[in-house]
Amino acid sequence: MTSKALDTLLKEERTFKPTPNFIKQAIMKDKNIYKQNNKQKFWEGFARELHWFKKWDKILEWTPPNAKWFINGKTNLTFNCIDRHLSTWKRTKAAIIWEGEPGETRTLTYQELHREVCQFANALKSLGIKKGDRITIYLPMIPEAAIAMLACARIGAPHSVVFGGFSSDSLRDRINDSKSKIVITADGGWRKGSIVPLKANTDEALRETPSIEKVIVVKRIGNEISMTKKRDLLWNDIVKTQPYDCEAEEMDSEDLLYLLYTSGTTGKPKGIVHTTGGYMTGVYATTKWIFDIKDSDIFWCSADVGWVTGHSYVVYGPLLNGATTLLYEGAPNYPDNDRFWSIIAKHRVNIFYTAPTAIRSFMKFGKELPQKHDMSSLRLLGTVGEPINPEAWIWYYEAIGRNNCPIVDTWWQTETGHILISPLPGITKLKPGSATIPFPGIDADIVNEKGESVDAGYLVIKSPWPGMLRGIYGDPERYQKQYWSQYKNWYFTGDGAKRDKEGYFWLLGRVDDVMKVSGHRISTMEVESALVDHKVVAEAAVIGKHHDIKENSIVAFVTLKANIKSSTDLTDELKNHVVKKIGSIARPDEILFTAELPKTRSGKIMRRLLRDIAEGRALGDTTTLADSNVVRRFYVEGYTQR
Ligand code: WTA
Repeated sequence: MTSKALDTLLKEERTFKPTPNFIKQAIMKDKNIYKQNNKQKFWEGFARELHWFKKWDKILEWTPPNAKWFINGKTNLTFNCIDRHLSTWKRTKAAIIWEGEPGETRTLTYQELHREVCQFANALKSLGIKKGDRITIYLPMIPEAAIAMLACARIGAPHSVVFGGFSSDSLRDRINDSKSKIVITADGGWRKGSIVPLKANTDEALRETPSIEKVIVVKRIGNEISMTKKRDLLWNDIVKTQPYDCEAEEMDSEDLLYLLYTSGTTGKPKGIVHTTGGYMTGVYATTKWIFDIKDSDIFWCSADVGWVTGHSYVVYGPLLNGATTLLYEGAPNYPDNDRFWSIIAKHRVNIFYTAPTAIRSFMKFGKELPQKHDMSSLRLLGTVGEPINPEAWIWYYEAIGRNNCPIVDTWWQTETGHILISPLPGITKLKPGSATIPFPGIDADIVNEKGESVDAGYLVIKSPWPGMLRGIYGDPERYQKQYWSQYKNWYFTGDGAKRDKEGYFWLLGRVDDVMKVSGHRISTMEVESALVDHKVVAEAAVIGKHHDIKENSIVAFVTLKANIKSSTDLTDELKNHVVKKIGSIARPDEILFTAELPKTRSGKIMRRLLRDIAEGRALGDTTTLADSNVVRRFYVEGYTQR
């Protein structure tokens, strides 16, 4: 965040109290709920609302940094998402409403979802999949994505969903790290009117994935694709003869539920480990209270299932609560810039949850577009993924919420599993730009390097919470170092935060080398390794530059090998190389060629200085620079060769 943005944020003094009408209907309206003297009992209360084959003996075992929740409890997440509702009137209610980018829709009731999930789970079993086998899901936003996840959870085969925007190289690395036996993909998906070639990408990835035995392909588009005999199977072919019922596996509360790869501060993505009982409880509780979800609601979270938001608040959270969840396949601006508003109007969406980047793009398109649509069904709005600037918050409140919907600005991470800091919409006074206060049962604080509570510093979580990550897959050392080495027994979030006089938290963005580009989490190191992988690149340094809409844009400083000349063609080639290595979400916005990178005497690249250069600020302190001429050369070369 720039210092100007920070200034505006901290001067923000407008507040918004819940209206009497909202309070009247809110699920949680008791302010005393924040006076939790027993956090474990608090969470246990939610666990009791769910189905367990066998109750737990103990709520928590905490041997830092390893937590176990609901010890010896046996449950099944899919049973709780579906079967639990089948004995009620919800059996015939819409569980999923799907809209494809070309405009077709499909609705699945809870009963239909049960059948589809069971049939697919049986198909997986018929292919020899057993509890514990990992399965990679590389699908567009179609109902089969949710069905596949739920089927995996039903039989205890952990899923690893890979976002459809990742390249074949990224898919390959994630398959190999998880040693998945099966990959589930589609012939393609629609994005801005073009086909995303998921099957072709999968074929490419599968040249170097020894663990994969079978590929299951959903026919989404109906285009020509190549099928490898014996290895590749069509979803419909393997499902159609399967029985309609499949028993839900009794999972231990701490059994692996899923892996989700995310960017850290090294070039290698890490497989975040989530287990069953605690995650289920945390996601259920936060969906219920923060989104104030009711039987009659249609809930739309616009995230892709490839991200944690899609896991927790497109699929699991809404279904655990017996709500109706809406899935949309395509781009927000296709065929027109008002696509989102037309979806809200068409399906009469009640709760809408999206990212600040999307809101800022919509602001640019103007208020007239939402005004063309009847969005009077909306009663609650949410944001996630990046800090939201007060201007965008107010626009969201007025243009989308018609001054009538509370906004829940929810802070959390892939690692936290569910929301940790957020308003409760029937209780909390809102301040534009602040995620407000920790959810009851969450012990968050802002501390300095010495661990003292301060008003501006690092955000930490001081006691375990049910949905917390249980590790980094196959790498306990990195888990310890990444999150638990900064403070003894406190979880280090990697985010900076400020606290105001009323104790509200204002999130200020990452303090490490993780960028947020249009809500996608990308590490500077990943992009750097993709660049140095190209034969002409000697060295690369990447920074996230402030961007008014996307939060960060990716700027790469590149040193070429001897005798290689920079050119516009080479710039394009390098950008495409990053797309090939990671995916289009990581395409650098700018590449600046330079003879040298500024380094400290100990050889560390001075990123702060690079950021100053990229954002056009006067240079900060350069006294530690090994060669101060480098700075001068930047100005000359970097900005003349762009
Ligand atoms: C950022 C997304 C400010 C933060 C669920 C965090 C936010 C990272 C907010 C995690 C928010 C998320 N306000 N910043 N409401 N929500 N962040 O793993 O920097 O993709 O560490 O999870 O997003 O990103 P991730």
